[in-house]
Amino acid sequence: MKVLVVGGGGRENALVWKLSQSSSVDKIYCIPGNAGIAELAECPAIGGALDIQDNCALAKFAEARGIDLTVVGPEAPLVNGIVDEFEARGLPIFGPRRVGAKIEGSKSFAKEIMTRYGIPTGFGQVFVGYEEAVAYMKTHELPFVVKADGLAAGKGVTVAFDEKTALRALEDCFLKLKFGSAGEKVIIEEYLEGEEVSVLAFTDGRAVLAMVPAQDYKRVFDGDEGPNTGGMGSYSPVPAVTDEIYEEIVDKILKPTIRGLANEGLEYRGVLYGGLMLTAEGPRTLEFNCRFGDPETQAILPRFEGDLARVMLAVVEGKLAGHELHWFPDKCVTVVIASGGYPTDYKKGYEIGGLEDASRMDKVQIFHAGTLFSNGKVVTAGGRVLNVSALGSDFEEARERAYEAVGRIHFEGMHYRKDIALRAVESERRGRLSVG
Ligand SMILES: Nc1ncnc2c1ncn2[C@@H]1O[C@H](COP(=O)(O)OP(=O)(O)O)[C@@H](O)[C@H]1O
Ligand SMILES: [Mg+2]
Repeated sequence: MKVLVVGGGGRENALVWKLSQSSSVDKIYCIPGNAGIAELAECPAIGGALDIQDNCALAKFAEARGIDLTVVGPEAPLVNGIVDEFEARGLPIFGPRRVGAKIEGSKSFAKEIMTRYGIPTGFGQVFVGYEEAVAYMKTHELPFVVKADGLAAGKGVTVAFDEKTALRALEDCFLKLKFGSAGEKVIIEEYLEGEEVSVLAFTDGRAVLAMVPAQDYKRVFDGDEGPNTGGMGSYSPVPAVTDEIYEEIVDKILKPTIRGLANEGLEYRGVLYGGLMLTAEGPRTLEFNCRFGDPETQAILPRFEGDLARVMLAVVEGKLAGHELHWFPDKCVTVVIASGGYPTDYKKGYEIGGLEDASRMDKVQIFHAGTLFSNGKVVTAGGRVLNVSALGSDFEEARERAYEAVGRIHFEGMHYRKDIALRAVESERRGRLSVG
């Protein structure tokens, strides 16, 4: 079968890589792709000829090439209705329709669903005006979390420990319109304390198959310092997620959410990503995403044992029941290599050295995020440049392997965190239980 993957980051490189191992897959296209993806897939749009927000152009491409399965990486095309466009033309596509993607595209919609169906989450109140939000804030105790309703590229959430910060967040949304229409509604949410984890699940709208848990690192510097990024690393499984907690997440959060969406008349298909806080009172939902996480996917898929295309096709066809997921017991650690200065100002176009040397390592997989071919060389082309994923029989081994591979790679100004998965190594040493 012919597969089209939409997107061009580390997540999409991991998807293309896993799909390329499926015996049923003969050919992969990726739009726009990157230099790493181009080794496994044809990337006809490198250079920007096709816009991933142009549903019609992508559908025409899929029709012309006889694509049997399209897999969408990023949230924006899903929220933009790419699945509706493909389905209207009878093109098989993996991901939720526009109405289902609202679970990520509108935090107030997600909160409504969670409240209606008793999904564990922090208490949240929705506001459409500045004055009411400020009045609420003044009569409630800090800390709380201010969330812009719509897609804000990871910048719409403020955890406020003081009034000034909370006020500024409300001003950004309502008065400065920093997030445009995404900030027309705001949720003020109860602050939850604990360890954060992500659990993703495949679903065809009825059957729910949860993947192994993962944890990501959002801040740019070691020790969770500095500004938020798209993600600086990840690992899987997560020692804090015991069998019991995992079951609770699946049975009380992921499955009831899919049932709730079905009850609303939304047949949600694709990946449902639960962003969760493990509080003293149990797991609570912080948010849902309507797609694979980046860089969680780069730590999850190396552990996936089996035929990814078959599972995805079963999701698309509504025949997921009866399928099972299998995972390698190895731990996986993913280190993101970024451009110096990311996430604010950084330069692009630096030649990347040592890629072959690093790729040669056993149990190491290098996924490209922001890279391009230029004059026969691989050069940096984004903030996050590469993801190095390594497997090991324990976290210590996986981590050492990942950092050895990172050490073989070099480009001007490269930056990476040195503490990825250290937490997991430490809890492994403490001998805690883990699943997955
Ligand atoms: N209720 C909450 N309590 C504490 N921290 C929160 C809460 N909600 C969100 N956060 C923090 O803010 C981050 C971003 O929030 P999230 O809801 O995941 O939105 P997005 O990923 O769209 O920016 C979370 O990863 C978490 O660290
Ligand atoms: Mg999030």
